[in-house]
Amino acid sequence: MRVIFYTGKGGSGKSVISCATALKLSELGYETLVISSDPAHTISDAFEMQIQHTPTEISGRDKLWAIQVDPIREVREKYGVIQEYIVSLFKSKGLDEVLAYEIAALPNMTEFISLLKVVEFVESNNYDVIVLDTVPSGEALKNIYLPTLLGSTAAKLIKLVAPLVNIAKVVEPIVGLPTPSKEVISEDIELMEILGRLKNIIVDREVTSLRLIANPDAFSIQNLRRTHLLANLYDINVDLAIMNKVIPEKVSDSYFKGWKNAQEKYLTEAEAAFHPLPIKRLRLFQSEVKGVRLLSELGDELFGDEDPAEVYFEGKAIKVMWSNHGLEVVVPLPPLFASKYKDVCEVERAGEDLSVVISTDIGEVRNFIPLPTIAHIMKLDSAKLLNGELHIYFIDER
Ligand SMILES: Nc1ncnc2c1ncn2[C@@H]1O[C@H](COP(=O)(O)OP(=O)(O)O)[C@@H](O)[C@H]1O
Ligand SMILES: [Mg+2]
Repeated sequence: MRVIFYTGKGGSGKSVISCATALKLSELGYETLVISSDPAHTISDAFEMQIQHTPTEISGRDKLWAIQVDPIREVREKYGVIQEYIVSLFKSKGLDEVLAYEIAALPNMTEFISLLKVVEFVESNNYDVIVLDTVPSGEALKNIYLPTLLGSTAAKLIKLVAPLVNIAKVVEPIVGLPTPSKEVISEDIELMEILGRLKNIIVDREVTSLRLIANPDAFSIQNLRRTHLLANLYDINVDLAIMNKVIPEKVSDSYFKGWKNAQEKYLTEAEAAFHPLPIKRLRLFQSEVKGVRLLSELGDELFGDEDPAEVYFEGKAIKVMWSNHGLEVVVPLPPLFASKYKDVCEVERAGEDLSVVISTDIGEVRNFIPLPTIAHIMKLDSAKLLNGELHIYFIDER
């Protein structure tokens, strides 16, 4: 069983690459399901057929299924009771009903519901590989830790409180807050349990891989670097980075010269940013990638003779460890072409990141390193090079 998640900003190519990956996998004989919760229905566009909210077999294909998750329907059907309860809580506080519904809709709900779907289909055992388009920004992934943090205790607490609910019902008019019904409580517990199972699936490195998709432009890369760090912190294996929409070498039209130069610069930046992950480049096609023929062509260019279900990389690129005085962040540096790193000459904070300038035989190179949140409240101490790795030290002054 394999679960492959693609992440990257909107428009980077997640849907197209997910569909192409799934197509290739099904051709290799894997029973494959691709899940999308993209409200723009891009997988229907990609496969040029109507994909339903239940697994839909792609016509003319063997072993290939797709599902378009409808988050609103899912929430109503599965978590409606909880949602209604939250709304009733807000209303009892005097909130207008329209506003109460607005606020009760959890942030990242769309992305989240498709994560919950993964549990359903992994446990169904009907598929060999599940490919998920539209994955959460790194930020949303932390939701999978909710049950570990508060789930078991919350669930236990709720189970304890459950028998008291009937008593609470009598007290409710006096205290003024609606008591959760038994239904709400059991759904709440169930949700926490599903989240717990989701976490076990996602942190299993033999099962789940997160893959990063970026375009060679200014915004894609640094944002994904943060997702990469968060995934490392959350113990999720990231095994591949894909640079999509690269203008092919053979395009010689002078109109694209500026674009090509800029892309070359960002591709080099990506090599450094995602090292030691394997990085694949995918060319910008001559048209939008729609229909099985083009998807299949794209899948071939991306994976060639490889099996997309393989685990491309195992390990953590960025390590965060506690040291005697605080925190140590270790970042591997990419090998430089025929030259060497010499020394760290400047380290300073740049927003949520750290800017590190390192001198080399061929001049200075600047690196932006994403930092875990806890480092923001610590004092930056020093940085040094050790065996091709950059070690950054923070002092905990609390
Ligand atoms: N390599 C490529 N060459 C040409 N067009 C591409 C390529 N990759 C993606 N596209 C197009 O870019 C648009 C956005 O791709 P999509 O997969 O929907 O992105 P996302 O799911 O990340 O938002 C679509 O119109 C798609 O056909
Ligand atoms: Mg999409």
